[in-house]
Amino acid sequence: MSIVYPLLSVIHVFSAVVWAGWALSFFYFVNPAIQQAGQAGPAVMQRLMGGPVLKVLAIVPLLVVLSGLILYWFYTGQLNTAIILSWSGLAMTIGALAGIAAFAEGLLITGPTAHKMQTLGAEMAQAGGPPSKDKLAQMGQLQARMESAVARGTYFLIVAVIGMALGG
Ligand code: HEM
Repeated sequence: MSIVYPLLSVIHVFSAVVWAGWALSFFYFVNPAIQQAGQAGPAVMQRLMGGPVLKVLAIVPLLVVLSGLILYWFYTGQLNTAIILSWSGLAMTIGALAGIAAFAEGLLITGPTAHKMQTLGAEMAQAGGPPSKDKLAQMGQLQARMESAVARGTYFLIVAVIGMALGG
């Protein structure tokens, strides 16, 4: 236990900073700049997504949730109700639930939608010429789903950070 808790804390906080830092920066700064960049926007987005970001995002949220669950077990004195129901325990629990919701959102919606967008984009590029109305409509639907999923995920992460700060 003596070395386990500090080690898990470092893994947890470090990976949480990478995940939440990326999500908030992307949502509030990077994506708006790409949207405003006009024709250059899609190329920059493709470069960004073709880099290490998706690989990092496949690992880091998992590290946060797994280390978080173990920390939570210790933090609450092995799920002691009195600790969970204290003010800081409640803040931590709400933060943890929001973090798990952000993780589920990424796993079930953002990740698969990004994958579908990549596949459709590759199909459109391979077909050459202007894309069909049908494909453009499909891409538009995927983009709309992605935008709302990214927004929800970011809000969950903000709640998680506030909960962790108040409960930690
Ligand atoms: C998903 C986004 C998450 C972020 C950004 C995040 C961030 C943080 C940060 C910055 C701390 C240090 C707080 C402090 O010491 O003041 C912390 C602590 C902690 N986190 Fe998270 N966390 C997340 C998810 C989770 C989840 C899902 C759980 C549990 C299931 C969890 C459980 C804990 C526990 C128990 C601590 C307290 C460690 C201690 O103070 O000894 N976290 N978290």
